[in-house]
Amino acid sequence: MTYLLALDQGTSSSRSIVFDAQGRLVAAAQKEIKQIYPRPGWVEHDPLEIWQTQLETAKEAMAKAKLQPGDIQALGLTNQRETTLLWNRKTGQPIHNAIVWQDRRSEPACAALRAQGLETDILQKTGLRIDAYFSGTKLQWLLDNVPDAREQARRGELAFGTIDSWLIWQLTGGKVHATDISNAARTMLFNIRDNDWDKDLLQAMQIEPSLLPGVLPSSFEYGVTQALGGAIPICGVAGDQQSALFGQACFYEGMAKNTYGTGCFTLVHTGSRFQASHNGLITTRTAQAGELAEYAIEGSVFVGGAVVQWLRDGLHAFQSSRDIEALAHSVPDSGGVVMVPAFTGLGAPYWQPDARGTITGMTRGTTMAHIARAALESIAFQSAALLQAISLDAVAAGCAPLTEVRVDGGASTNDLLMQFQADLLGIPVIRPVVTETTALGAAWLAGLASGVYTDKKALSALWQADRTFTPQLSRHDADLLMVRWNQAVRQACLPPT
Ligand code: G3P
Repeated sequence: MTYLLALDQGTSSSRSIVFDAQGRLVAAAQKEIKQIYPRPGWVEHDPLEIWQTQLETAKEAMAKAKLQPGDIQALGLTNQRETTLLWNRKTGQPIHNAIVWQDRRSEPACAALRAQGLETDILQKTGLRIDAYFSGTKLQWLLDNVPDAREQARRGELAFGTIDSWLIWQLTGGKVHATDISNAARTMLFNIRDNDWDKDLLQAMQIEPSLLPGVLPSSFEYGVTQALGGAIPICGVAGDQQSALFGQACFYEGMAKNTYGTGCFTLVHTGSRFQASHNGLITTRTAQAGELAEYAIEGSVFVGGAVVQWLRDGLHAFQSSRDIEALAHSVPDSGGVVMVPAFTGLGAPYWQPDARGTITGMTRGTTMAHIARAALESIAFQSAALLQAISLDAVAAGCAPLTEVRVDGGASTNDLLMQFQADLLGIPVIRPVVTETTALGAAWLAGLASGVYTDKKALSALWQADRTFTPQLSRHDADLLMVRWNQAVRQACLPPT
């Protein structure tokens, strides 16, 4: 038997999964990681805890599968993207906690870039909007605020990395300082059309080039790890959302996936053409297997599954998140209630940072069941608005209109939500047998580079649908629902009196 080991370092936990060559899950292990909130709007992770938990889960998953390092053909790594850290090349010690992608502290540095008129330049080179979400200004903050960091950087003593680089460094005992193209694309320092770090942007953010990792394809032999008790080649690396796109076998233009996690991340493959968004979205590189540079348009919903947590923990509507489906199912519809969970403003396609969470359409007859249903529906409404905007960009890039969307992530197991999603979109929503597509993508990237698979066609043949949700609602009724949703969004965007 041939096995592949995927390490999936996410925002809330480190996970490791062993897959067999058929893409079936053999064993998994998971450990939560601490969220550190030093100030409002700041989010940090402890890089040593990230490494330790990742190592422990990898060992645990191998032990559960009763495998030795020699039984593993290759290792694939996927990770929360944009999260930024700096470490000392000699000691391997981080000089500060990692600044997490959700952290907003570098907004003033972003404002300075906007004031320099760099928006168009950055969009055309990196595909990104200037935002504190991306790594560039987080790195700038570390260099400006950690004592002596700039001097050490000038002396070439420090290494910058996103979580993939940090784990590759640890896995190879400091031998390899590298990142993959899909992670580099999230730094706001990398020209995704020229395939290189951009000198002008490095200068604008005052970043020493000596800090940067080498950029490699996502399916490639990065090095060999001995950290798991024997030699295992590291043959796949990708940012988690691009890895999920790969694990969903969305290899060709016009194919789309939506991951339903705490937030939702939607990506549409746009083939080999770079297309800057006209609808407030971003352009990114897909995980690269082979020579070809390929792109995707991406958008994210800030509050997806998190709305269910809020109902559970904030309103005490039920005890376990799983209970929401039964509660929502106990009423035929939301009874006209619409919830806009704009707890942290609204992202794409609205970009209303000051919007507030809003519930509209309540009557004396409204019950918690209606609110639960409206909360679930809000995840689908937000994803539908996002997919509609992404489709406009994808069609402008020359892609055919979307014909289906593949789904994964925790809330994709909720049948009511998936059916409503299909009803709103008017195209089939397809859930695969393996919903651990983020880890599967990393395993497949590693399997391609290590000769387990011949090509993407072989992977497409392995991908299997579990259930297809076909639209049941007329387009007229779906459009009316979207109109009502957009009215509620307008309410959510009204300034407080
Ligand atoms: O861009 C951030 C994203 O990569 C985080 O994903 O699944 O760790 O929340 P996740």
